[in-house]
Amino acid sequence: MMKTLFRILAALVLLAALAVAGIILIPVQRTPPSEALAAGWTPAPGAGEYAMRAGDCLACHTADGGADFAGGRAIESPMGRIWTANITPDPETGIGNWSLDQFRAALIDGLRADGAHLYPAMPYENFRMLTERDIRALYGYFMEEVAPVRNPVPEPELPFPFNQRWGIRVLNWLTLNHDSGFTGTMGDPALDRGQYLAEGPGHCAACHSPRTVYMGQDGITADDPAFLTGGHIESWEAPPLRGPQSVLREWPVSELAALLATGRNFRTTANGEMRLVVEHSLQYLSQDDIIALSRFLKALDGQPHDPPEAVAPMGPAALMPPEADAAGAATEALLSAVSPDMPLGARLYVDNCAACHFSTGRGSPEIFPALQGNSLVVSDEITPLISIILDGAEVPGTAARPMPLVMQGYAGRLDDAEIAELASFLRRAWGNDAAPVSADEVARIRREDRPQTR
Ligand code: HEC
Ligand code: HEC
Ligand code: HEC
Repeated sequence: MMKTLFRILAALVLLAALAVAGIILIPVQRTPPSEALAAGWTPAPGAGEYAMRAGDCLACHTADGGADFAGGRAIESPMGRIWTANITPDPETGIGNWSLDQFRAALIDGLRADGAHLYPAMPYENFRMLTERDIRALYGYFMEEVAPVRNPVPEPELPFPFNQRWGIRVLNWLTLNHDSGFTGTMGDPALDRGQYLAEGPGHCAACHSPRTVYMGQDGITADDPAFLTGGHIESWEAPPLRGPQSVLREWPVSELAALLATGRNFRTTANGEMRLVVEHSLQYLSQDDIIALSRFLKALDGQPHDPPEAVAPMGPAALMPPEADAAGAATEALLSAVSPDMPLGARLYVDNCAACHFSTGRGSPEIFPALQGNSLVVSDEITPLISIILDGAEVPGTAARPMPLVMQGYAGRLDDAEIAELASFLRRAWGNDAAPVSADEVARIRREDRPQTR
Protein backbone atom coordinates (compact mmCIF):
# COMPACT_ATOMS: atom_id res chain seq x y z
CA MET A 1 0.00 0.00 0.00
CA MET A 2 2.71 2.46 1.09
CA LYS A 3 4.80 1.29 -1.85
CA THR A 4 2.04 2.03 -4.38
CA LEU A 5 1.49 5.43 -2.87
CA PHE A 6 5.21 6.13 -3.06
CA ARG A 7 5.27 5.09 -6.73
CA ILE A 8 2.34 7.35 -7.56
CA LEU A 9 4.04 10.22 -5.77
CA ALA A 10 7.31 9.59 -7.57
CA ALA A 11 5.47 9.52 -10.89
CA LEU A 12 3.75 12.80 -10.09
CA VAL A 13 7.03 14.45 -9.14
CA LEU A 14 8.58 13.21 -12.38
CA LEU A 15 5.64 14.54 -14.41
CA ALA A 16 5.84 17.91 -12.71
CA ALA A 17 9.59 18.06 -13.36
CA LEU A 18 9.01 17.21 -17.03
CA ALA A 19 6.32 19.87 -17.31
CA VAL A 20 8.66 22.46 -15.79
CA ALA A 21 11.49 21.37 -18.09
CA GLY A 22 9.08 21.62 -21.01
CA ILE A 23 8.07 25.12 -20.01
CA ILE A 24 11.71 26.13 -19.68
CA LEU A 25 13.14 24.35 -22.70
CA ILE A 26 10.52 24.55 -25.47
CA PRO A 27 11.61 27.55 -27.51
CA VAL A 28 9.27 30.53 -27.34
CA GLN A 29 7.29 31.56 -30.40
CA ARG A 30 7.40 35.09 -31.72
CA THR A 31 4.06 36.19 -33.19
CA PRO A 32 4.46 37.22 -36.86
CA PRO A 33 3.53 40.75 -38.00
CA SER A 34 -0.24 41.38 -38.09
CA GLU A 35 0.03 43.08 -41.49
CA ALA A 36 2.43 42.57 -44.42
CA LEU A 37 3.58 46.06 -45.36
CA ALA A 38 4.81 46.74 -48.88
CA ALA A 39 8.57 46.63 -49.36
CA GLY A 40 9.96 50.12 -48.99
CA TRP A 41 7.11 51.21 -46.70
CA THR A 42 8.26 53.98 -44.39
CA PRO A 43 6.32 55.72 -41.62
CA ALA A 44 5.27 59.35 -42.03
CA PRO A 45 7.69 61.82 -40.40
CA GLY A 46 6.84 62.19 -36.71
CA ALA A 47 4.72 59.01 -36.62
CA GLY A 48 7.21 57.21 -34.36
CA GLU A 49 7.36 59.97 -31.79
CA TYR A 50 3.57 60.26 -31.86
CA ALA A 51 3.14 56.52 -31.22
CA MET A 52 5.71 56.82 -28.42
CA ARG A 53 3.58 59.55 -26.80
CA ALA A 54 0.37 57.56 -27.28
CA GLY A 55 2.08 54.53 -25.69
CA ASP A 56 3.60 56.58 -22.85
CA CYS A 57 6.99 54.85 -23.24
CA LEU A 58 8.90 57.88 -21.91
CA ALA A 59 7.18 58.05 -18.51
CA CYS A 60 7.88 54.42 -17.58
CA HIS A 61 11.28 54.10 -19.18
CA THR A 62 12.83 57.23 -17.63
CA ALA A 63 14.03 57.34 -14.00
CA ASP A 64 13.54 60.53 -11.97
CA GLY A 65 16.43 62.74 -13.02
CA GLY A 66 17.67 60.08 -15.47
CA ALA A 67 18.27 60.34 -19.22
CA ASP A 68 15.25 59.88 -21.48
CA PHE A 69 14.44 56.19 -22.12
CA ALA A 70 17.55 54.97 -20.22
CA GLY A 71 15.34 52.94 -17.85
CA GLY A 72 15.92 52.27 -14.17
CA ARG A 73 12.58 53.60 -12.97
CA ALA A 74 11.38 51.38 -10.11
CA ILE A 75 7.91 49.89 -10.48
CA GLU A 76 6.38 48.38 -7.35
CA SER A 77 4.48 45.20 -8.14
CA PRO A 78 2.51 43.13 -5.63
CA MET A 79 5.42 40.63 -5.73
CA GLY A 80 8.29 43.10 -5.35
CA ARG A 81 10.28 45.75 -7.18
CA ILE A 82 10.99 45.73 -10.93
CA TRP A 83 13.09 48.21 -12.91
CA THR A 84 12.16 49.43 -16.36
CA ALA A 85 14.59 48.57 -19.14
CA ASN A 86 17.00 50.85 -20.99
CA ILE A 87 15.36 51.23 -24.42
CA THR A 88 17.85 53.70 -25.89
CA PRO A 89 19.83 52.33 -28.87
CA ASP A 90 22.94 51.73 -26.72
CA PRO A 91 24.23 48.37 -28.04
CA GLU A 92 25.34 47.00 -24.65
CA THR A 93 22.85 48.19 -22.06
CA GLY A 94 19.99 49.22 -24.36
CA ILE A 95 18.30 47.82 -27.46
CA GLY A 96 20.79 49.05 -30.11
CA ASN A 97 21.42 45.52 -31.41
CA TRP A 98 17.79 44.47 -31.53
CA SER A 99 16.20 43.54 -34.85
CA LEU A 100 12.69 44.67 -35.76
CA ASP A 101 11.45 41.13 -35.03
CA GLN A 102 12.99 41.21 -31.55
CA PHE A 103 11.54 44.66 -30.88
CA ARG A 104 8.07 43.58 -32.04
CA ALA A 105 8.25 40.51 -29.82
CA ALA A 106 8.97 42.70 -26.77
CA LEU A 107 5.85 44.75 -27.51
CA ILE A 108 3.37 42.04 -28.48
CA ASP A 109 4.72 38.82 -26.92
CA GLY A 110 6.49 40.23 -23.87
CA LEU A 111 9.81 38.67 -24.87
CA ARG A 112 13.35 39.97 -24.50
CA ALA A 113 15.80 39.63 -27.37
CA ASP A 114 17.28 36.53 -25.67
CA GLY A 115 13.82 34.93 -25.51
CA ALA A 116 13.37 35.46 -21.76
CA HIS A 117 9.95 36.68 -20.66
CA LEU A 118 9.30 40.26 -19.63
CA TYR A 119 7.30 40.94 -16.51
CA PRO A 120 3.77 42.15 -17.28
CA ALA A 121 4.65 45.51 -15.69
CA MET A 122 5.53 46.19 -19.34
CA PRO A 123 2.00 46.42 -20.80
CA TYR A 124 2.49 43.93 -23.65
CA GLU A 125 -1.00 42.52 -23.03
CA ASN A 126 -2.24 45.87 -24.44
CA PHE A 127 0.58 46.64 -26.88
CA ARG A 128 -0.34 43.31 -28.50
CA MET A 129 -3.08 45.35 -30.21
CA LEU A 130 -0.57 47.79 -31.78
CA THR A 131 -0.72 47.93 -35.57
CA GLU A 132 2.33 46.82 -37.53
CA ARG A 133 2.58 50.40 -38.81
CA ASP A 134 2.92 51.81 -35.32
CA ILE A 135 5.41 49.08 -34.35
CA ARG A 136 7.56 49.91 -37.39
CA ALA A 137 7.29 53.64 -36.66
CA LEU A 138 8.31 53.06 -33.04
CA TYR A 139 11.26 50.91 -34.07
CA GLY A 140 12.50 53.60 -36.45
CA TYR A 141 12.07 56.24 -33.76
CA PHE A 142 14.04 54.36 -31.10
CA MET A 143 16.83 53.35 -33.48
CA GLU A 144 17.25 56.68 -35.27
CA GLU A 145 15.85 59.52 -33.17
CA VAL A 146 16.71 58.53 -29.60
CA ALA A 147 20.23 59.15 -28.26
CA PRO A 148 22.06 56.03 -27.02
CA VAL A 149 22.75 56.12 -23.27
CA ARG A 150 24.90 53.60 -21.40
CA ASN A 151 22.94 52.66 -18.28
CA PRO A 152 22.85 49.12 -16.91
CA VAL A 153 19.58 48.41 -15.11
CA PRO A 154 19.36 46.06 -12.09
CA GLU A 155 17.51 42.73 -12.30
CA PRO A 156 14.17 42.64 -10.44
CA GLU A 157 14.16 42.21 -6.64
CA LEU A 158 11.60 39.44 -6.40
CA PRO A 159 11.37 36.44 -4.07
CA PHE A 160 11.28 32.86 -5.43
CA PRO A 161 9.30 31.77 -7.45
CA PHE A 162 8.53 35.20 -8.93
CA ASN A 163 12.19 35.72 -9.86
CA GLN A 164 11.89 32.82 -12.35
CA ARG A 165 11.11 34.48 -15.67
CA TRP A 166 9.97 31.20 -17.25
CA GLY A 167 7.06 31.17 -14.79
CA ILE A 168 5.62 34.12 -16.71
CA ARG A 169 5.08 31.76 -19.63
CA VAL A 170 2.40 29.97 -17.64
CA LEU A 171 0.77 33.31 -16.91
CA ASN A 172 0.92 34.23 -20.60
CA TRP A 173 -0.87 31.02 -21.58
CA LEU A 174 -3.75 32.30 -19.50
CA THR A 175 -3.60 35.99 -20.35
CA LEU A 176 -1.98 36.43 -23.75
CA ASN A 177 -4.32 34.45 -25.94
CA HIS A 178 -5.89 37.36 -27.81
CA ASP A 179 -4.97 38.05 -31.45
CA SER A 180 -2.21 40.52 -32.20
CA GLY A 181 -2.96 43.61 -34.28
CA PHE A 182 -6.12 45.69 -34.17
CA THR A 183 -9.63 45.18 -35.53
CA GLY A 184 -12.12 47.94 -34.83
CA THR A 185 -15.58 46.80 -33.78
CA MET A 186 -17.37 50.13 -33.29
CA GLY A 187 -18.68 50.38 -36.86
CA ASP A 188 -17.41 53.94 -37.43
CA PRO A 189 -13.85 54.99 -38.36
CA ALA A 190 -13.60 57.76 -35.72
CA LEU A 191 -14.88 55.49 -32.95
CA ASP A 192 -12.57 52.71 -34.14
CA ARG A 193 -9.66 55.13 -33.86
CA GLY A 194 -10.70 55.89 -30.27
CA GLN A 195 -11.00 52.16 -29.59
CA TYR A 196 -7.50 51.61 -30.94
CA LEU A 197 -5.99 54.36 -28.76
CA ALA A 198 -7.73 53.03 -25.65
CA GLU A 199 -7.10 49.30 -26.18
CA GLY A 200 -3.62 49.46 -27.69
CA PRO A 201 -1.13 52.27 -27.15
CA GLY A 202 -3.10 54.05 -24.37
CA HIS A 203 -3.31 50.76 -22.37
CA CYS A 204 -6.17 52.22 -20.33
CA ALA A 205 -7.17 48.67 -19.28
CA ALA A 206 -3.84 48.15 -17.49
CA CYS A 207 -5.24 50.40 -14.74
CA HIS A 208 -8.98 50.77 -15.42
CA SER A 209 -9.88 47.08 -15.85
CA PRO A 210 -10.17 44.76 -12.86
CA ARG A 211 -7.64 41.93 -12.41
CA THR A 212 -8.26 38.21 -12.55
CA VAL A 213 -7.17 35.92 -9.70
CA TYR A 214 -3.85 35.31 -11.47
CA MET A 215 -3.31 39.07 -11.84
CA GLY A 216 -3.97 39.32 -15.60
CA GLN A 217 -6.17 42.15 -16.87
CA ASP A 218 -9.84 41.19 -16.76
CA GLY A 219 -11.13 43.04 -19.82
CA ILE A 220 -8.53 43.79 -22.51
CA THR A 221 -10.73 44.65 -25.50
CA ALA A 222 -14.04 46.45 -25.96
CA ASP A 223 -15.74 43.06 -26.42
CA ASP A 224 -14.91 41.99 -22.85
CA PRO A 225 -17.75 42.88 -20.44
CA ALA A 226 -15.28 43.89 -17.69
CA PHE A 227 -13.24 46.20 -19.97
CA LEU A 228 -12.64 49.53 -18.15
CA THR A 229 -15.12 48.74 -15.37
CA GLY A 230 -12.63 49.97 -12.76
CA GLY A 231 -9.37 48.77 -11.22
CA HIS A 232 -6.75 49.56 -8.65
CA ILE A 233 -3.15 50.64 -8.99
CA GLU A 234 -0.98 50.74 -5.89
CA SER A 235 -3.11 52.62 -3.34
CA TRP A 236 -5.22 54.41 -5.97
CA GLU A 237 -8.53 53.54 -7.49
CA ALA A 238 -8.65 53.86 -11.27
CA PRO A 239 -12.41 54.53 -11.42
CA PRO A 240 -14.85 52.77 -13.75
CA LEU A 241 -15.02 54.50 -17.14
CA ARG A 242 -18.34 52.85 -18.01
CA GLY A 243 -21.40 51.44 -16.27
CA PRO A 244 -23.74 52.89 -13.65
CA GLN A 245 -20.89 53.67 -11.20
CA SER A 246 -19.03 55.83 -13.70
CA VAL A 247 -19.17 59.62 -13.35
CA LEU A 248 -18.37 59.85 -17.07
CA ARG A 249 -22.09 59.32 -17.67
CA GLU A 250 -22.68 62.85 -16.37
CA TRP A 251 -20.00 64.41 -18.54
CA PRO A 252 -20.55 65.54 -22.13
CA VAL A 253 -17.90 64.40 -24.63
CA SER A 254 -16.27 67.86 -24.54
CA GLU A 255 -15.69 67.67 -20.75
CA LEU A 256 -14.29 64.15 -20.93
CA ALA A 257 -11.97 65.38 -23.68
CA ALA A 258 -10.96 68.34 -21.50
CA LEU A 259 -9.97 66.08 -18.62
CA LEU A 260 -7.92 63.81 -20.88
CA ALA A 261 -6.14 66.64 -22.66
CA THR A 262 -5.55 68.97 -19.70
CA GLY A 263 -6.05 67.02 -16.43
CA ARG A 264 -8.96 69.21 -15.40
CA ASN A 265 -12.56 69.86 -16.40
CA PHE A 266 -15.79 71.34 -15.06
CA ARG A 267 -15.92 68.80 -12.21
CA THR A 268 -12.64 67.16 -11.39
CA THR A 269 -8.87 66.94 -11.71
CA ALA A 270 -6.54 64.07 -12.58
CA ASN A 271 -4.17 63.08 -9.78
CA GLY A 272 -1.83 60.16 -9.10
CA GLU A 273 -1.05 57.91 -12.05
CA MET A 274 -3.66 59.67 -14.15
CA ARG A 275 -1.89 63.00 -13.75
CA LEU A 276 1.21 61.31 -15.20
CA VAL A 277 -0.79 59.82 -18.09
CA VAL A 278 -2.07 63.30 -18.99
CA GLU A 279 1.29 64.96 -18.45
CA HIS A 280 3.43 62.53 -20.46
CA SER A 281 1.02 61.04 -22.96
CA LEU A 282 -2.49 62.36 -23.58
CA GLN A 283 -1.67 66.08 -23.73
CA TYR A 284 0.45 65.35 -26.83
CA LEU A 285 -2.36 63.69 -28.78
CA SER A 286 -4.08 65.62 -31.55
CA GLN A 287 -7.46 67.19 -30.91
CA ASP A 288 -9.04 64.67 -33.30
CA ASP A 289 -7.54 61.76 -31.39
CA ILE A 290 -8.63 63.08 -27.97
CA ILE A 291 -12.15 63.54 -29.30
CA ALA A 292 -12.10 60.06 -30.88
CA LEU A 293 -10.97 58.55 -27.57
CA SER A 294 -13.65 60.42 -25.62
CA ARG A 295 -16.41 59.55 -28.08
CA PHE A 296 -15.35 55.90 -28.03
CA LEU A 297 -15.60 55.76 -24.22
CA LYS A 298 -19.09 57.27 -24.29
CA ALA A 299 -20.24 55.06 -27.18
CA LEU A 300 -18.88 51.94 -25.47
CA ASP A 301 -21.19 52.76 -22.56
CA GLY A 302 -24.18 53.33 -24.85
CA GLN A 303 -24.14 57.08 -24.06
CA PRO A 304 -24.62 60.02 -26.45
CA HIS A 305 -21.33 60.66 -28.23
CA ASP A 306 -21.82 63.44 -30.78
CA PRO A 307 -18.50 65.10 -31.58
CA PRO A 308 -17.93 68.49 -29.90
CA GLU A 309 -16.44 71.32 -31.93
CA ALA A 310 -13.21 71.46 -29.97
CA VAL A 311 -11.41 70.02 -26.96
CA ALA A 312 -11.80 72.16 -23.87
CA PRO A 313 -13.21 75.36 -25.34
CA MET A 314 -13.31 77.84 -22.48
CA GLY A 315 -15.74 80.75 -22.49
CA PRO A 316 -16.09 83.27 -19.62
CA ALA A 317 -19.42 81.73 -18.59
CA ALA A 318 -17.71 78.40 -17.93
CA LEU A 319 -15.85 79.94 -14.99
CA MET A 320 -18.88 80.86 -12.86
CA PRO A 321 -19.03 78.67 -9.73
CA PRO A 322 -22.22 76.61 -9.99
CA GLU A 323 -25.01 76.80 -7.39
CA ALA A 324 -25.75 73.89 -5.06
CA ASP A 325 -27.96 71.23 -6.63
CA ALA A 326 -30.81 69.34 -4.91
CA ALA A 327 -28.48 66.64 -3.50
CA GLY A 328 -26.19 69.31 -2.08
CA ALA A 329 -28.79 71.71 -0.68
CA ALA A 330 -28.87 70.37 2.90
CA THR A 331 -25.08 70.42 3.27
CA GLU A 332 -24.88 73.89 1.75
CA ALA A 333 -27.51 75.13 4.26
CA LEU A 334 -25.56 73.55 7.15
CA LEU A 335 -22.28 75.13 6.03
CA SER A 336 -23.78 78.57 5.39
CA ALA A 337 -25.57 78.71 8.77
CA VAL A 338 -22.20 78.53 10.61
CA SER A 339 -23.94 77.68 13.88
CA PRO A 340 -21.77 77.20 17.00
CA ASP A 341 -22.84 73.55 17.39
CA MET A 342 -21.97 72.63 13.81
CA PRO A 343 -20.33 69.16 13.67
CA LEU A 344 -16.51 69.29 13.82
CA GLY A 345 -15.98 67.98 10.26
CA ALA A 346 -18.25 70.64 8.78
CA ARG A 347 -16.56 73.38 10.81
CA LEU A 348 -13.12 72.27 9.68
CA TYR A 349 -14.38 72.43 6.11
CA VAL A 350 -15.65 76.01 6.56
CA ASP A 351 -12.37 77.05 8.18
CA ASN A 352 -9.97 75.37 5.77
CA CYS A 353 -11.54 74.38 2.47
CA ALA A 354 -14.70 76.29 1.63
CA ALA A 355 -12.85 79.35 0.33
CA CYS A 356 -11.83 77.33 -2.73
CA HIS A 357 -14.15 74.33 -2.93
CA PHE A 358 -17.22 76.40 -1.81
CA SER A 359 -20.09 75.42 0.47
CA THR A 360 -21.86 74.02 -2.59
CA GLY A 361 -19.15 71.33 -2.86
CA ARG A 362 -19.17 72.02 -6.59
CA GLY A 363 -15.92 73.94 -6.79
CA SER A 364 -15.28 76.16 -9.77
CA PRO A 365 -14.88 74.70 -13.28
CA GLU A 366 -11.27 74.19 -14.43
CA ILE A 367 -9.82 75.63 -11.18
CA PHE A 368 -11.18 74.09 -7.97
CA PRO A 369 -12.47 70.54 -8.42
CA ALA A 370 -15.94 69.66 -7.13
CA LEU A 371 -15.83 67.45 -4.03
CA GLN A 372 -19.46 66.39 -4.57
CA GLY A 373 -19.64 63.11 -6.50
CA ASN A 374 -15.83 63.13 -6.85
CA SER A 375 -14.45 59.62 -7.49
CA LEU A 376 -11.36 60.23 -5.37
CA VAL A 377 -13.33 61.63 -2.41
CA VAL A 378 -15.79 58.71 -2.21
CA SER A 379 -13.38 55.91 -3.18
CA ASP A 380 -12.84 52.84 -0.97
CA GLU A 381 -9.14 53.62 -1.43
CA ILE A 382 -8.81 56.39 1.15
CA THR A 383 -5.03 56.88 0.86
CA PRO A 384 -5.24 59.39 -2.04
CA LEU A 385 -7.84 61.57 -0.26
CA ILE A 386 -5.94 61.58 3.05
CA SER A 387 -2.60 62.14 1.27
CA ILE A 388 -4.01 65.16 -0.58
CA ILE A 389 -5.33 66.67 2.66
CA LEU A 390 -1.91 66.06 4.29
CA ASP A 391 0.36 67.10 1.41
CA GLY A 392 -1.79 69.05 -1.04
CA ALA A 393 -2.09 68.34 -4.76
CA GLU A 394 -0.95 69.66 -8.09
CA VAL A 395 -2.06 69.34 -11.69
CA PRO A 396 0.73 70.47 -14.02
CA GLY A 397 0.13 72.94 -16.82
CA THR A 398 -0.39 71.63 -20.37
CA ALA A 399 -0.21 73.35 -23.74
CA ALA A 400 -3.97 74.00 -23.68
CA ARG A 401 -4.02 75.06 -19.99
CA PRO A 402 -0.57 76.40 -19.08
CA MET A 403 -1.47 77.37 -15.50
CA PRO A 404 -0.73 74.61 -12.96
CA LEU A 405 -3.41 74.05 -10.27
CA VAL A 406 -1.91 73.88 -6.81
CA MET A 407 -3.40 73.15 -3.41
CA GLN A 408 -1.34 73.39 -0.24
CA GLY A 409 -1.22 70.59 2.38
CA TYR A 410 -2.61 70.56 5.92
CA ALA A 411 -0.24 68.07 7.61
CA GLY A 412 1.08 70.73 10.00
CA ARG A 413 -2.27 72.32 10.69
CA LEU A 414 -4.74 69.46 11.27
CA ASP A 415 -4.16 66.44 13.53
CA ASP A 416 -5.19 62.85 12.75
CA ALA A 417 -8.56 63.08 14.54
CA GLU A 418 -9.40 66.34 12.76
CA ILE A 419 -8.48 64.98 9.33
CA ALA A 420 -10.58 61.89 10.05
CA GLU A 421 -13.58 64.09 10.96
CA LEU A 422 -13.08 66.28 7.92
CA ALA A 423 -12.66 63.35 5.50
CA SER A 424 -15.69 61.57 6.99
CA PHE A 425 -17.70 64.77 6.52
CA LEU A 426 -16.65 65.06 2.84
CA ARG A 427 -17.58 61.44 2.23
CA ARG A 428 -21.18 62.09 3.41
CA ALA A 429 -21.68 65.71 2.28
CA TRP A 430 -23.74 66.94 -0.73
CA GLY A 431 -25.22 63.47 -1.33
CA ASN A 432 -21.86 61.65 -1.20
CA ASP A 433 -22.33 58.26 0.43
CA ALA A 434 -19.09 56.61 1.52
CA ALA A 435 -17.88 55.01 4.76
CA PRO A 436 -16.25 57.21 7.42
CA VAL A 437 -12.47 57.37 8.00
CA SER A 438 -10.93 56.72 11.44
CA ALA A 439 -8.12 58.63 13.15
CA ASP A 440 -6.10 55.38 13.21
CA GLU A 441 -6.29 55.13 9.44
CA VAL A 442 -5.14 58.73 9.08
CA ALA A 443 -2.28 58.07 11.53
CA ARG A 444 -1.18 55.05 9.48
CA ILE A 445 -1.21 56.98 6.21
CA ARG A 446 0.64 59.90 7.85
CA ARG A 447 3.31 57.47 9.12
CA GLU A 448 3.75 55.49 5.91
CA ASP A 449 5.49 56.30 2.66
CA ARG A 450 2.69 58.23 1.01
CA PRO A 451 2.15 58.50 -2.74
CA GLN A 452 3.54 61.75 -4.06
CA THR A 453 0.57 64.03 -4.75
CA ARG A 454 2.46 67.14 -5.82
C1 HEC B 1 3.73 50.94 -17.47
C2 HEC B 1 5.14 51.05 -17.71
C3 HEC B 1 5.68 50.80 -19.11
C4 HEC B 1 5.28 51.40 -20.28
C5 HEC B 1 4.16 52.40 -20.50
C6 HEC B 1 6.17 50.90 -21.30
N1 HEC B 1 7.06 50.02 -20.77
FE1 HEC B 1 8.48 48.97 -21.78
N2 HEC B 1 9.00 47.98 -20.08
C7 HEC B 1 8.48 48.24 -18.83
C8 HEC B 1 9.16 47.39 -17.86
C9 HEC B 1 8.88 47.35 -16.36
C10 HEC B 1 10.11 46.63 -18.58
C11 HEC B 1 11.08 45.60 -18.01
C12 HEC B 1 10.34 44.33 -17.65
C13 HEC B 1 11.25 43.23 -17.19
O1 HEC B 1 12.38 43.49 -16.73
O2 HEC B 1 10.84 42.08 -17.32
C14 HEC B 1 9.97 47.02 -19.97
C15 HEC B 1 10.69 46.46 -21.02
C16 HEC B 1 10.67 46.91 -22.33
C17 HEC B 1 11.48 46.38 -23.40
C18 HEC B 1 12.49 45.23 -23.27
C19 HEC B 1 13.87 45.80 -23.14
C20 HEC B 1 14.89 44.86 -22.56
O3 HEC B 1 16.08 45.15 -22.71
O4 HEC B 1 14.53 43.85 -21.93
C21 HEC B 1 11.20 47.11 -24.52
C22 HEC B 1 11.81 46.96 -25.91
C23 HEC B 1 10.19 48.08 -24.16
N3 HEC B 1 9.88 47.93 -22.83
C24 HEC B 1 9.67 49.03 -25.03
C25 HEC B 1 8.62 49.88 -24.70
C26 HEC B 1 7.99 50.79 -25.64
C27 HEC B 1 8.43 50.97 -27.08
C28 HEC B 1 6.99 51.42 -24.97
C29 HEC B 1 5.98 52.42 -25.51
C30 HEC B 1 5.24 52.01 -26.69
C31 HEC B 1 7.00 50.90 -23.61
N4 HEC B 1 8.00 49.98 -23.47
C32 HEC B 1 6.10 51.32 -22.61
C33 HEC B 1 7.48 49.13 -18.52
C34 HEC B 1 6.80 49.93 -19.43
C1 HEC C 1 -1.14 53.98 -14.92
C2 HEC C 1 -2.53 53.84 -14.60
C3 HEC C 1 -3.56 54.52 -15.50
C4 HEC C 1 -3.64 54.48 -16.87
C5 HEC C 1 -2.71 53.78 -17.85
C6 HEC C 1 -4.81 55.23 -17.21
N1 HEC C 1 -5.42 55.72 -16.10
FE1 HEC C 1 -7.09 56.90 -16.05
N2 HEC C 1 -6.93 57.02 -14.02
C7 HEC C 1 -6.00 56.39 -13.24
C8 HEC C 1 -6.20 56.76 -11.85
C9 HEC C 1 -5.38 56.28 -10.67
C10 HEC C 1 -7.29 57.65 -11.84
C11 HEC C 1 -7.87 58.39 -10.63
C12 HEC C 1 -7.21 59.75 -10.57
C13 HEC C 1 -7.77 60.68 -9.55
O1 HEC C 1 -8.47 60.21 -8.65
O2 HEC C 1 -7.53 61.90 -9.66
C14 HEC C 1 -7.74 57.79 -13.22
C15 HEC C 1 -8.79 58.61 -13.61
C16 HEC C 1 -9.28 58.68 -14.90
C17 HEC C 1 -10.46 59.44 -15.29
C18 HEC C 1 -11.36 60.24 -14.34
C19 HEC C 1 -12.42 59.31 -13.80
C20 HEC C 1 -13.23 59.85 -12.65
O3 HEC C 1 -14.11 59.09 -12.17
O4 HEC C 1 -12.99 60.97 -12.18
C21 HEC C 1 -10.62 59.24 -16.64
C22 HEC C 1 -11.73 59.81 -17.51
C23 HEC C 1 -9.55 58.38 -17.08
N3 HEC C 1 -8.76 58.07 -16.01
C24 HEC C 1 -9.39 57.94 -18.39
C25 HEC C 1 -8.30 57.17 -18.83
C26 HEC C 1 -8.10 56.78 -20.21
C27 HEC C 1 -9.02 57.11 -21.36
C28 HEC C 1 -6.93 56.08 -20.24
C29 HEC C 1 -6.22 55.49 -21.45
C30 HEC C 1 -5.90 56.42 -22.50
C31 HEC C 1 -6.42 56.03 -18.88
N4 HEC C 1 -7.28 56.69 -18.05
C32 HEC C 1 -5.24 55.41 -18.52
C33 HEC C 1 -5.00 55.55 -13.69
C34 HEC C 1 -4.68 55.30 -15.02
C1 HEC D 1 -6.44 77.81 -1.92
C2 HEC D 1 -7.42 77.00 -2.55
C3 HEC D 1 -7.69 75.61 -1.93
C4 HEC D 1 -7.99 75.30 -0.62
C5 HEC D 1 -8.09 76.24 0.56
C6 HEC D 1 -8.22 73.87 -0.60
N1 HEC D 1 -8.07 73.35 -1.84
FE1 HEC D 1 -8.37 71.43 -2.39
N2 HEC D 1 -7.77 71.85 -4.25
C7 HEC D 1 -7.44 73.10 -4.74
C8 HEC D 1 -6.97 72.99 -6.11
C9 HEC D 1 -6.50 74.13 -7.01
C10 HEC D 1 -7.04 71.63 -6.44
C11 HEC D 1 -6.65 71.00 -7.77
C12 HEC D 1 -5.29 70.34 -7.66
C13 HEC D 1 -5.30 68.87 -7.90
O1 HEC D 1 -6.36 68.24 -7.93
O2 HEC D 1 -4.19 68.31 -8.03
C14 HEC D 1 -7.55 70.95 -5.25
C15 HEC D 1 -7.78 69.58 -5.18
C16 HEC D 1 -8.38 68.94 -4.12
C17 HEC D 1 -8.73 67.54 -4.11
C18 HEC D 1 -8.53 66.53 -5.26
C19 HEC D 1 -9.80 66.48 -6.09
C20 HEC D 1 -9.71 65.62 -7.34
O3 HEC D 1 -10.64 65.74 -8.17
O4 HEC D 1 -8.79 64.86 -7.52
C21 HEC D 1 -9.30 67.28 -2.89
C22 HEC D 1 -9.84 65.96 -2.39
C23 HEC D 1 -9.26 68.52 -2.14
N3 HEC D 1 -8.71 69.50 -2.93
C24 HEC D 1 -9.73 68.67 -0.85
C25 HEC D 1 -9.54 69.80 -0.09
C26 HEC D 1 -9.83 69.90 1.33
C27 HEC D 1 -10.43 68.78 2.15
C28 HEC D 1 -9.47 71.14 1.72
C29 HEC D 1 -9.50 71.71 3.12
C30 HEC D 1 -8.68 71.00 4.07
C31 HEC D 1 -8.97 71.85 0.54
N4 HEC D 1 -9.03 71.00 -0.52
C32 HEC D 1 -8.54 73.15 0.53
C33 HEC D 1 -7.51 74.27 -4.05
C34 HEC D 1 -7.75 74.38 -2.69
